[in-house]
Amino acid sequence: RPIRAIGVPMDLGADRRGVDMGPSAIRYAGLADALTELGYEYTDIGDLDVTRPELGDPDSVQPSTGRAKYLAEIRELCVNLEATVAETVADGTVPIVLGGDHSIAIGSVRGSARSGDIGVVWFDAHGDFNTPETTPSGNVHGMPLAAVLGHGSFATLDWAPASIDPENVALVGIRNLDDAEREALRDSGVTVFTMSDIDERGATAVTEAALSVADAPDGVHVSLDLDWLDPREAPGVGTPVRGGVTYREAHAAMETIDETKLRSIGLVEVNPILDDHNQTAELAVELTASALGKAIL
Ligand code: ARG
Ligand code: MN
Ligand code: MN
Ligand code: MN
Repeated sequence: RPIRAIGVPMDLGADRRGVDMGPSAIRYAGLADALTELGYEYTDIGDLDVTRPELGDPDSVQPSTGRAKYLAEIRELCVNLEATVAETVADGTVPIVLGGDHSIAIGSVRGSARSGDIGVVWFDAHGDFNTPETTPSGNVHGMPLAAVLGHGSFATLDWAPASIDPENVALVGIRNLDDAEREALRDSGVTVFTMSDIDERGATAVTEAALSVADAPDGVHVSLDLDWLDPREAPGVGTPVRGGVTYREAHAAMETIDETKLRSIGLVEVNPILDDHNQTAELAVELTASALGKAIL
C-alpha cells in the first residue's frame, strides 16, 4: 500500500514552543528514504495551515465549562486534518501524520475512523485523558484521547465523538496520570498498560495484548507520542517523564505491529529545539520503519 505524509506544524496544544518544527525534523531525519527503501510508494503533501500562537487568542472560544487553550484554532486545524486523513484512507493509502503536539490526534483519529470500525493503540508516558474540566494545564495535548471518545465539555462545541468503541482502545507505557484523569480512565472502558506491565511482561507481550484489544475490522490507528520513550533516548519532547521504554523495547514493540492492519499512524511531540542532534526525530523514523515491516534479517 502507498503511504502519504501529512505535516501538521501545531504547537497550540502545548506550553513548550518548538514542537511546531517536528514535521521538518522528521522529514530531515529521512522518513522518505527509510520508507522508500522498504518498498513503499511514498508521497508527502506538505504541511497543513496552522495558526501561529501570536495571531490566535487562547480564550476566544471556550467550552461551556472548564478551559482548553486555543480550542478554536485547534478545532479548525483538526477539522481540516480529519478530512485529509479520511481522503487518504479512502484512497487505500496509509496516512502518516507528522506532528506537532498531540492535540492533532483528534483530527487524525476522527479522520481514520470516519469510514471504518477501527481500534487505537496510544503509545505515551501520559494518558491524554484530561477534559477541559479536569486539566491542570489547559493544554489540549493532554486531552485528545478523551476528546475523541466524547468525554467532558468538548461535546458542547459541536465536536461529535469519533465512532470508536473504547473497548478497542489501549494505552501503552503510561507512567504519568493526573488524579482526575486516572479516575476517568478507570471508568472509561479503555485498557491501560503501564510501565509496570512492561517491566513484568516485556514490551513484546504487552504490545501484542494492546494490539488484540485494538483488533477491529478496519484496522488500527497507532498514535506514537515520542515521550513514550525514556528521555535518555528521546530528549526532544516537551513533557519528558523518566522511566520510559528503551530503544530496544520500543523497536520490539513496533515490530509486533502487523503492518497489513495498520490503517494510519501519527508521530507526535517531536521538538527539535529541545533535542540533541535530532535524535528524537531519527528515532521516530526508525520506529516507523519497524512498525511498517522493517526487520533485521
Ligand atoms: N497531563 C498533563 C496535562 O494535562 C500533561 C499532558 C502531556 N501530553 C502530551 N501529549 N505530551 O497537561
Ligand atoms: Mn506524552
Ligand atoms: Mn501524548
Ligand atoms: Mn510487522
